[in-house]
Amino acid sequence: MTVEANAKVNLSLEVYGRRDDGYHELRSVVLPIGLADVLSIEPYKDGTVLSDTGYGEGDLIVRAARALQEACPPAAGLGAKVHVEKRIPVGGGLGGGSADAAAMLRALNEAWELCLSPERLAEIGATVGSDVPALVLAQHYRAPVLMEGRGERVRLLDADERASLPVGGKGGWMVLANPGISSSTAEVYARCTPREGRPSVRFDASAAPVNDLQAAACAFHPEIATALAALMVAGASGAMMSGSGSTVFGFADDSSSASRIAAAMAAVGCRAWTTT
Ligand code: C5P
Repeated sequence: MTVEANAKVNLSLEVYGRRDDGYHELRSVVLPIGLADVLSIEPYKDGTVLSDTGYGEGDLIVRAARALQEACPPAAGLGAKVHVEKRIPVGGGLGGGSADAAAMLRALNEAWELCLSPERLAEIGATVGSDVPALVLAQHYRAPVLMEGRGERVRLLDADERASLPVGGKGGWMVLANPGISSSTAEVYARCTPREGRPSVRFDASAAPVNDLQAAACAFHPEIATALAALMVAGASGAMMSGSGSTVFGFADDSSSASRIAAAMAAVGCRAWTTT
């Protein structure tokens, strides 16, 4: 079977203090986007899981399959062989590896006939990586997700919250631009100054987008700051970094202005995509 592993952008990302487990407390709105890797999955023998990414045992695709086998003993004897067509930039803040893991969980749930709910798959995904639960729900429902805790507490935004999100033009057109550098999530978190206190009890979906990792990432990789400025000059409405970078994004009124902005970003040396 062939499945798309959609990437995400963080429309907002609030970072609070470090927890006892070393991870930061977060509150983030995660939007699924059209940019996706493509996973081709075939059945394989004796519980063996193989992927051709070349990432070895750290491969999030293999780890996702193992987590599923551990959570569902009947799956322990089932295997899979995966070919990945990589389109999402690596170290780009678009959740590429986590998107692959989320898609793998969803695909194997079907291929191995496990009948687990997306919410259960999200729980299993939390053992694989912080962004995996949000991506399981975002890919499944094709809708914005609120992610909290380390990333393990996820829920879909309700209709009122979705309607009040500050997401630009009607068609949801967006331009992504990657300045060609890979940003290390752990390094950026280590350099970020977290907010005081805890997330407010009530989540306000209409709040202005903010990414608390952006200042630290821009200080470490000035190319990100340059890309943000170029995106504004090119005419995007708003420009923000996604996740821990290095990809930046902004909204466009329609598909033709998105294409114009993407061309301007390519002209200043970024890899650029239009998406919704
Ligand atoms: O969970 P994941 O492997 O994606 O996290 C990568 C790194 O990002 C962690 O090792 C940690 O340094 C940082 N991180 C964090 N707090 C989170 C999520 C990630 O500090 N909530």
